[in-house]
Amino acid sequence: MPVPTGSDPVRFAYWVPNVSGGLVTSTIEQRTDWGYDYNRELAVLAENNGFDYALSQVRYMASHGAEFQHESTSFSLALLLATQRLKVIAAVHPGLWHPGVLAKLGATADHLSNGRFAVNVVSGWFKGEFTALGEPWLEHDERYRRSEEFIRALRQIWTEDHTELAGDFYRLRDFSLKPKPLNTPERPHPEIFQGGNSTAARAMAGRVSDWYFSNGKDFDGVTEQINDVRAAAQAGRTAPRFGLNGFLIARDTEAEARDTLREIVAKADTEAVHGFRDAVQQAGPSTGDGKGMWQDSGFEDLVQYNNDGFRTGLIGTPEQIAMGVPPAEGWGRIVAYKRLGVDLLLLGFLHYLEEVEYFGKRVLPLVRELEAQEAASAPVAARA
Ligand SMILES: Cc1cc2nc3c(=O)[nH]c(=O)nc-3n(C[C@H](O)[C@H](O)[C@H](O)COP(=O)(O)O)c2cc1C
Repeated sequence: MPVPTGSDPVRFAYWVPNVSGGLVTSTIEQRTDWGYDYNRELAVLAENNGFDYALSQVRYMASHGAEFQHESTSFSLALLLATQRLKVIAAVHPGLWHPGVLAKLGATADHLSNGRFAVNVVSGWFKGEFTALGEPWLEHDERYRRSEEFIRALRQIWTEDHTELAGDFYRLRDFSLKPKPLNTPERPHPEIFQGGNSTAARAMAGRVSDWYFSNGKDFDGVTEQINDVRAAAQAGRTAPRFGLNGFLIARDTEAEARDTLREIVAKADTEAVHGFRDAVQQAGPSTGDGKGMWQDSGFEDLVQYNNDGFRTGLIGTPEQIAMGVPPAEGWGRIVAYKRLGVDLLLLGFLHYLEEVEYFGKRVLPLVRELEAQEAASAPVAARA
């Protein structure tokens, strides 16, 4: 179901490079650093260049690259304190957090940042990490059952007193959080995002999440997921908003952009890419219907560190990326994704500092211009 033109502008988030090695598993030069000084500068630059959100990654140990990792919730808080407007989404594994403890952390982070904290609930793919931490590795759909119980508990603790829960995974006895997180005009409590594309993930999003994140996808892949997630939203519940991952390579000429992609893939760290594929297989199949992440990913897709980001096709000149210019058929078009119902683009870059600024100065104005044109030409009823 297309979103009416003239609705909210499409939003932008970026992947926080809080693990070493950048966002591509390749030996190509990457002027991206995983340390705090670089990330603080990046966060300030991003909020001044049109980004509303930053998403931190959670990783407890090395995996096919990512040799060093900063912890997601503490790193997110540091970025919140270094910025004014940016909302920072901290990735968390339900298997490794108690919802009451995370709710407490989230409430404090929300007060310290004036209502800019959010979470990304990820159900996990890296069995070795859980094993190393001495935690059981649940079967795929059980991980989602646990995530759903976690999200329901988190929302209840953030909004109500005297929470009682005797669940399959967590227990709470007359638990009241004081203070609660902030209730702002934008949202009643920190927003709850989720990552995962399997049937179980789509169903969970429809039932409990505020936002659903998709891996990199073309137009058809996005449409299928949006339809499934909306169908899963129960009567009376607003369907989650939709975020789409994409690796963005914007250059002055299309040839330069495509050459950069070719070089990333040609210099892929083959061993790490295969290692990741093997680890995902070990994690257990997503679902019998093959809808989960990485079910149909090829070698090139996996070079974009876990997330199929090249598939979104945000590769070319600013004009091509913002609007799409024939005959670049199949290449990304931000406004076209918006028309399909994408509310947020989650972007990764090769050289973050340089490219976030290039995005803000060269790509974003074109997107806003086109959105304004569409809003002006939309029927009056659709403009509300
Ligand atoms: C936007 C996004 C961010 C993610 N971030 C993380 C992360 O930081 N750490 C992690 O272990 N998994 C992360 N994941 C992966 C999920 O934990 C999950 O394993 C993956 O989405 C596969 O789920 P599926 O089988 O339902 O498709 C992320 C997924 C998405 C879509």
